[in-house]
Amino acid sequence: MASFRAALAEAVAGHLQQHESAPVVGLVPTMGALHSGHGVLIDAARAASDIVIASIFVNPLQFDDDADYQHYPRTPEQDVTLLGEHGADLIFLPEIAEMYPGDPHLPQVRVSAGELGHRWEGAARPGHFDGVVTVVAKLFNIMSPPAPGRLEAWFGAKDAEQVAIITRMTADLNLDVVIRTVSIVRDEHGLARSSRNQRLDEHDYASALALSAALFALEDDAAAGRPLGLADQVSELNATTGVDLDYLVVVDPGTLQELHPGGDLLDEHGVLQGPALALIAARVGPVRLIDNISLDPGRSQPRE
Ligand code: PAJ
Repeated sequence: MASFRAALAEAVAGHLQQHESAPVVGLVPTMGALHSGHGVLIDAARAASDIVIASIFVNPLQFDDDADYQHYPRTPEQDVTLLGEHGADLIFLPEIAEMYPGDPHLPQVRVSAGELGHRWEGAARPGHFDGVVTVVAKLFNIMSPPAPGRLEAWFGAKDAEQVAIITRMTADLNLDVVIRTVSIVRDEHGLARSSRNQRLDEHDYASALALSAALFALEDDAAAGRPLGLADQVSELNATTGVDLDYLVVVDPGTLQELHPGGDLLDEHGVLQGPALALIAARVGPVRLIDNISLDPGRSQPRE
């Protein structure tokens, strides 16, 4: 960690020798097993930052299921190659004992995601978001550049609850970090890219496409000003072989609370009145998949 901090200080000093402006340090936290979705995140950080740092750490604290932690794909050599190709300047690949010096006694003092951490994915995976915000706060501390450098951290909209919770943590803890996001990267059939997709066989893959199809249908309903066909989409997913639906809900993007007809954002007919988020989670084959889409009643063009 000390050598990483020294390398960061050197990169900041190097920038200041050549430029008058303070460097923007762009941090992209990951758990590795990198795919093109991560690549887009690094590209976005590269385009907006002077110094790009990527971290790879499979964080045990955010797995509620030890088997999931053990099976999480680990491909460090390919990851380092991909990060180099996308122009990362520094790669932080810490050992467990470096991130959690008290290991095997995991940290006593942690960050809590509060009530936001108990909704949707948080309800399905108790403690998950507390583990995420704890490790992300630690990464923000480790990566905070020496003055006058400024830290910006990049996250994917793929994990919409994660973005909402990290944004709230940054405000609640007065952290000096700007949170930036990139849109979800999907494959040619609409499936959101995920490290977990590697574990889907051909049949699972075909079933998994039902998740994004449901989200696109809701997106079109919202754009066309029709009542959201949430109940129809839920019935269709329940009837899809190979999909074990956990939830499909429409929520307020900031509070993550479910919207109900007759409230501020949904009229009594179920027509959306303002920006919202549809969240979905389902078990497909051996994995739990999550996806989401922004619903915008102002968008007039339906998806191609
Ligand atoms: P990980 O799942 O590796 O994801 C790293 C980042 O890549 C996250 O911000 C995630 O939203 C983004 N990402 C993954 N797939 C994407 C896709 N298809 N489109 C756009 N962005 C995508 O999220 C984590 O790791 C961890 O919780 C972490 C924040 C690193 C804390 O441990």
